[in-house]
Amino acid sequence: MKRSRGVPSALLLVVIFVFLHSTTPTTGEIPPSEASYNILMLLPISSRSHRNVFMPLATALAARGHKVTMLSNHEAPDQNPKIKYIRHNLDHFKEEEMDMFAVQKNPSKIFDIFTTVFPLIARDIYDVPVVKELYNKRSEFDLFIVDAIFNEGSYPFVYGKNFIVLCPGLLDPSQSAVVGNLLNPAYVPNMLADYPRPYSFITRVKNIFFSLVLPITWRKSIVTPVEAVLKKRFPNLPPLLEIERNQSLTLINSHFSLGIPLPLLPSQVEIGGMHLRPAKPLPKDIAEVVSGKTPVIYMSLGSVARSSSMPEHFKKMILAAFARLPYKVIWKFEEEMENLPKNVIIKKWMPQQDILAHPNVKLFISHCGLLGSQEAMYHGTPILGLPIFGDQPKHAAYLQNVGVARYLEWEDLTEQLLVDTIQELVSNPSYRQKMSEYGAKFMDQPESPVDRAVFWTEYVIRHKGARHMRSAEWSLSWVELLHLDIALALHLMVYIIYKILRKICSLCCSSSAAKKSKSKRE
Ligand SMILES: *[C@@H]1O[C@H](CO)[C@@H](O)[C@H](O)[C@H]1NC(C)=O
Repeated sequence: MKRSRGVPSALLLVVIFVFLHSTTPTTGEIPPSEASYNILMLLPISSRSHRNVFMPLATALAARGHKVTMLSNHEAPDQNPKIKYIRHNLDHFKEEEMDMFAVQKNPSKIFDIFTTVFPLIARDIYDVPVVKELYNKRSEFDLFIVDAIFNEGSYPFVYGKNFIVLCPGLLDPSQSAVVGNLLNPAYVPNMLADYPRPYSFITRVKNIFFSLVLPITWRKSIVTPVEAVLKKRFPNLPPLLEIERNQSLTLINSHFSLGIPLPLLPSQVEIGGMHLRPAKPLPKDIAEVVSGKTPVIYMSLGSVARSSSMPEHFKKMILAAFARLPYKVIWKFEEEMENLPKNVIIKKWMPQQDILAHPNVKLFISHCGLLGSQEAMYHGTPILGLPIFGDQPKHAAYLQNVGVARYLEWEDLTEQLLVDTIQELVSNPSYRQKMSEYGAKFMDQPESPVDRAVFWTEYVIRHKGARHMRSAEWSLSWVELLHLDIALALHLMVYIIYKILRKICSLCCSSSAAKKSKSKRE
């Protein structure tokens, strides 16, 4: 009964999806801005994928007539003349030189890089002439937008100013706690892991543990040293945590339709999926490969884990597995490779969304970065996850738990396991069916995520920091917040009542005992 009802509703979702895909514009639904604002985006320590989260917002704000400046460690991603790109050129943090497969083997490696490099950047960046000039001009900006991850060193820019924090990843519960929204670890996952729902006893213990240990370790090993360095240059700077608490708005790269619904404050706005868009026609060579009846698999491990750093035995194993499959494979791989199986083509760069959207592409083999995972959900393509580091295992676990993906650990990989898992994912229709529902739900929103981000950004400027949206939590101490004073008062009250009752009891008892002994004597 249940099953037969499921099929038409899935069909209906597909119809809505196709309809919305063909009609919903991505921007332009809100009235023009009342003024042109001067906005500075600060992502001086960022990966390319963080930058890719900022770009749709920067582009949309610039198109609305605002003056957008972006400080980052990347070369300009496009030639948009309306955005002013400033690159600081410090080379302490080079994502292209990080060996992600070494990190995968030994995750503390990347943490060691962060602890040494971030304080160095905080020390040196205010000496870079373009950054110095920008800092001295900071009063000219109406608003700042800071990357939530890695960029505590930018807080001198925003001290005493109106600013927004943009989370390129999912909401970090400790980030939420900072603005007065303590999320309950009984059901909200920590930064780096997710578990099957509902959380079991053991899972809740694990999640509480990591929800506490991760932010404490981060603050102690990274924020504290960065703060010490900044204090030397800016002696009047208040604690970084105090500046962080003062954010007007948090924009979060998530959406409940693509993941876990969370209780959020009015100042925490989900703008996830700003980069998602309907498919464009494929370039000729790829169009030729994906056309026809043979199912196609697309593989990409993203921009940070470069193919050249993939250990040789993994390359061989993956190619051997591909050679045994009755499918075609397109692999985003940055290097030349010899002796490719006939059914495999490699290319340095791929129009990923357009490939994922093609009905013949049946599987996405992915490291499960957030942006790629969102693209697969939007376009309805099941995933084989090969997570490497950071929050990738968390996304992979989520996708597997909801039945739209499977993921494998690199340590467990064998040729046979790859072949079996890929065949299961391609031939079992339930993965694709469940995955295709995400896109329809995501498209069903009153406005596009970019429009929402633009609206709230201008709103913060219009209302001079929009302090009315902030949680009243900021005015309470942690003793009041955890009701410790009330708990103490209750305990005291119970104790006093108990003492009084005991006194009364002992008085009654002794007087009645006295009476008894008196009557006995008589
Ligand atoms: C918090 O923001 C207000 C303006 O919105 C500013 O006056 C105040 O100095 C800021 N405090 C800190 C610690 O940044």
